Amino acid sequence: MPAPPPAVVAENVSKVFFSRTGDPVWALEDISLTLEPGSFTCIVGPSGCGKSTFLRILGGLEERTSGEVTMGDAGHAIPTAFVFQEHGVFPWMTVLDNVAFGLRMASVGRREREDTARDWLARVRLSDFAGSYPHQLSGGMRQRVAIARAFATGSPVLLMDEPLGALDAQTRMLMQEELISLWEAERKTVLMVTHDIDESIVLGDRVIVMSARPGRLREDIAVPFPRPRSVDIERSGEFGELRARIWELLRDDAQRGEDAA
Ligand SMILES: Nc1ncnc2c1ncn2[C@@H]1O[C@H](COP(=O)(O)OP(=O)(O)OP(=O)(O)O)[C@@H](O)[C@H]1O
Ligand SMILES: [Mg+2]
Repeated sequence: MPAPPPAVVAENVSKVFFSRTGDPVWALEDISLTLEPGSFTCIVGPSGCGKSTFLRILGGLEERTSGEVTMGDAGHAIPTAFVFQEHGVFPWMTVLDNVAFGLRMASVGRREREDTARDWLARVRLSDFAGSYPHQLSGGMRQRVAIARAFATGSPVLLMDEPLGALDAQTRMLMQEELISLWEAERKTVLMVTHDIDESIVLGDRVIVMSARPGRLREDIAVPFPRPRSVDIERSGEFGELRARIWELLRDDAQRGEDAA
């Protein structure tokens, strides 16, 4: 059987922004990345290296300056699902409407989108809050709504920009486990940005390390831990070595950034 086509291919993607004074800001330079269907890939990198910009370009929310992006399922009716870095849910919509929102955008009928949204609310244990508004939820619950919405769209590709970034350490670990089990059941292609090295190793099949100014791909690291996984792998020596290696790459980069400044 021939291998299925990749879910996402980015080739030499670059992005230049222009500041108010007209000076160019190189946000991304020559990023090439291929994601296999059903894989979970994490991106780490210093603040401002272009992680969000890259995700936004893949999701069609931002124009690229040059390069090519191919989403495997070209012509797919459902837009790529996105979980934003912050403000991921609409405060004026109920929890149910938030989760159903992506389906509404894809013109799915009311009945079907509400049924799907209710299923997803059950899976993230928020059935009792279907009629609540986001301000009535905790931060962790709001992120579960955002994640449920992304899964509920039916999009084969999920782009997540620090979906757990605003959570306290304990809630974050619980949410990592939830995300692992949702993904293991669904096998969507996930590309997720995180600031947290441990999180990138716990969740990812691969960890992409980006460098600063302009953002480039520094290293593409395969994570050796078998699945199903739990956060317990963090206690192993192999985990510690991987963490040290990624930290070394990031620290090295921060240092060079400061030397150049
Ligand atoms: N709309 C914009 N106009 C001008 N410059 C921008 C714009 N969006 C981003 N930039 C610049 O592009 C660079 C990359 O920004 P981006 O938000 O992608 O970084 P990031 O890696 O996601 O950072 P963080 O980890 O802090 O979220 C930064 O230097 C930023 O100032
Ligand atoms: Mg960002």
